[in-house]
Amino acid sequence: MANLPDHLLWTLLFVLLLSLSRTSSSRTSPSTSALFDVLDFGADPTGAADSTQAFRDAWTSACGRGDFFATVAVRSGRYLLRPVRFRGPCKSRHVSVRLGGATLVAPPDYRVLGGSSSWLNFDGVSNTSVHGGVLDAKGPSLWACKDSGRDCPDGATTLSFTNSNNIRIKDLTSMDSQMFHISINRCRNVRIQGVRVKADGNSPNTDGIHVQLSTNVLILHSDIATGDDCISIGPGTQNLRVQRIRCGPGHGISIGSLARSENEPGVQNIIVRNTTFQGTQNGLRIKSWARPSNGFVRGVHFIDARMINAQNPIIIDQNYCPYGSRTCPNQESSVKISDVLYRDIQGTSASPIAVRFDCSTKNPCTGIRMRNVYLTCLDDEVTRSACANANGEALGTVRPRSCLFENS
Ligand SMILES: *[C@@H]1O[C@H](CO)[C@@H](O)[C@H](O)[C@H]1NC(C)=O
Ligand SMILES: *[C@@H]1O[C@H](CO)[C@@H](O)[C@H](O)[C@H]1NC(C)=O
Repeated sequence: MANLPDHLLWTLLFVLLLSLSRTSSSRTSPSTSALFDVLDFGADPTGAADSTQAFRDAWTSACGRGDFFATVAVRSGRYLLRPVRFRGPCKSRHVSVRLGGATLVAPPDYRVLGGSSSWLNFDGVSNTSVHGGVLDAKGPSLWACKDSGRDCPDGATTLSFTNSNNIRIKDLTSMDSQMFHISINRCRNVRIQGVRVKADGNSPNTDGIHVQLSTNVLILHSDIATGDDCISIGPGTQNLRVQRIRCGPGHGISIGSLARSENEPGVQNIIVRNTTFQGTQNGLRIKSWARPSNGFVRGVHFIDARMINAQNPIIIDQNYCPYGSRTCPNQESSVKISDVLYRDIQGTSASPIAVRFDCSTKNPCTGIRMRNVYLTCLDDEVTRSACANANGEALGTVRPRSCLFENS
């Protein structure tokens, strides 16, 4: 978290500029701030006609004019959008996209988004924020295609930021994404706050928020109900703080899956605190495929979590293989997992094995610490722990009883 003060400073400045831009908007000082209303670029707020080009043009103007603070304003209404890329770098120093009470909807035919990696992609931007709004990607028709076993496109991530710095996503709702809802890839200094994610508990690959190859990321005060991971933390994530999150339905908060490839950057300095998991498949999970990789996970704090009928409240799975045994690598994961703290975790487990540490024989887990963990089973069964190649210590009250190997 070494850079957090910088990030906070930037945020303060941002808020200050926002209020400045509001007070100065009546004066005509285009070099300071300017507003670009998508309606002036031909957007249709009834959702009947396609508004993609209008949004693209409004962005190009806001980005390119060289204002200190430029706003793309989207008034209440429904706007039909195909895949669109908002590219930087911008001449304007700060660009804010204000969606307010607007809903952006994808075309009914899933193939229009299905072949693109993203629906709304911001690439190479700095000092950019997206506020408010509902993003409705109309995912169910693609999920149905995938369920039927027909040949279907992978689907698009609803909102993605790539190669970007100083990003803010606030008070936004994403519903029914085709694939991931929000993805942060190769970014620095990101703050995601007050986000709501909604999708069916059986929708395939609809991770709520995915982060990878990114540094200094905050995810705060969000509510995520979806069919896959609530938050997934991929290779190359450093200095991530997750706080006040409610997950469920879904697969819980996951670090991984790791060891997708042999050469992969590690995950380090992760804090996940004050989370609630309701009816999720997992709670706090670290997962890697069973194959060689130089990836690693180090310095993780899971603090203050409530489990309400989670199937696997605490789990490290280094033999991750969800799609049936024919696809399992059947080797040893060499991802090194160390220094992981579980503190103040309580609630109910839907299965008797409430704590499972299935670590690599090649590279055992070390420095696992449990402190004040209290997990009971719903149907009066006694909860148990299962350990393989897991070293560490238990402190305070720990139930189920720890099976960590205390070798210090
Ligand atoms: C981002 O904002 C800061 C603070 O206003 C400014 O100094 C910097 O130049 C901006 N970055 C870009 C790329 O415009
Ligand atoms: C934890 O989260 C809940 C719900 O989001 C909130 O009401 C509470 O104030 C938070 N507690 C702390 C210590 O942050």
